Amino acid sequence: MTTKTSKSKSTTTRKDKVLLEVNNLTTHFFTQDGVVKAVDGISYNVHEGEVVGIVGESGCGKSVGAMSVMKIIPNPPGRIVDGSVTFEGEDLVNMDESRMREIRGNRIAMVFQEPMTSLNPVLTIGRQLTETLELHQGLKGEDALDKAEELLNRVGIPEARQRLKDYPHQFSGGMRQRVMIAIALSCDPKLIIADEPTTALDVTIQAQILELMQGLAKDFGTALIIITHNLGVVARYADRVIVMYAGKIIEEGTAEEIFHNPIHAYTRGLLASVPRLDAKEHVRLQTIEGLPPDLVSPPPGCGFQPRCTKGPKSCKCAETPPALVEIKKGHYVTECKCCQK
Ligand SMILES: Nc1ncnc2c1ncn2[C@@H]1O[C@H](COP(=O)(O)OP(=O)(O)O)[C@@H](O)[C@H]1O
Ligand SMILES: [Mg+2]
Repeated sequence: MTTKTSKSKSTTTRKDKVLLEVNNLTTHFFTQDGVVKAVDGISYNVHEGEVVGIVGESGCGKSVGAMSVMKIIPNPPGRIVDGSVTFEGEDLVNMDESRMREIRGNRIAMVFQEPMTSLNPVLTIGRQLTETLELHQGLKGEDALDKAEELLNRVGIPEARQRLKDYPHQFSGGMRQRVMIAIALSCDPKLIIADEPTTALDVTIQAQILELMQGLAKDFGTALIIITHNLGVVARYADRVIVMYAGKIIEEGTAEEIFHNPIHAYTRGLLASVPRLDAKEHVRLQTIEGLPPDLVSPPPGCGFQPRCTKGPKSCKCAETPPALVEIKKGHYVTECKCCQK
């Protein structure tokens, strides 16, 4: 058993070239009520072309972690206080804003939960697409329109040429999310971070969008980080899954491992709370009792310990945070024995 160090580690995924290396990333918000430890020392890698899922309940630091990678944390009150983010060999944390702007949009694109807030309501979809194509790929006029049509086609929007003339409100929620994905692809990024991209959509559309994104990632060789509170979603579409709780990573492994051999009580709780297609008979969905801790004054030890029904209240991880250890090649879990089966 080896402890996960802050440096990069080997994984069992098929891709082997590291694209993004997040190391001990720590982001705090300095508020009147105290310091919110939103992201508290997380380390993970994303390889070229890999689909990585980041899961956890609301408020556990998924979005702040992604926004830290993109360097779009509102400051004040937020700040990256420790750690590093290395993308294609370049350090993003200390990068100046003009270079960072080149990376955002050109190399890393982000897709948000509610496309209506990211799309401009008074510009046609065509204009919003050609704008990024002009900016990022230097395409003009008819060439930009042709490329915009091709991208809309690619994300499954029928009669694409015609629809370029439409405004965002003329598209359904699912179609707007497809447009957002087309805009993200328009700059030909190496990495797309999708933050709850399907949460506002119904389940059938969710599955279609996720399948689309997974397919595009494979076709374009783009790496993808899918952030969601639904472990069922990522277990199906990701190569690897990272489970976050209270600003920390508590388990990580291939999607297959996490789905079939989850170790941490929290991961198992998340899995029990989503419907399983492979369930042999009707199984009642469970909820995890209690709430995530307040990140201003989190428990001194394992953040999940107050909700853990496995171990005794005297468990030593109540006082000392358990380290993330590799229990099997590429499968990491915090080492508290009480939380493990
Ligand atoms: N601008 C902000 N000011 C203060 N606290 C914030 C701010 N943004 C996020 N937080 C806090 O950071 C924590 C993590 O939030 P977030 O990353 O949005 O969670 P998730 O995406 O997992 O639902 C939460 O406790 C949230 O209240
Ligand atoms: Mg979020």
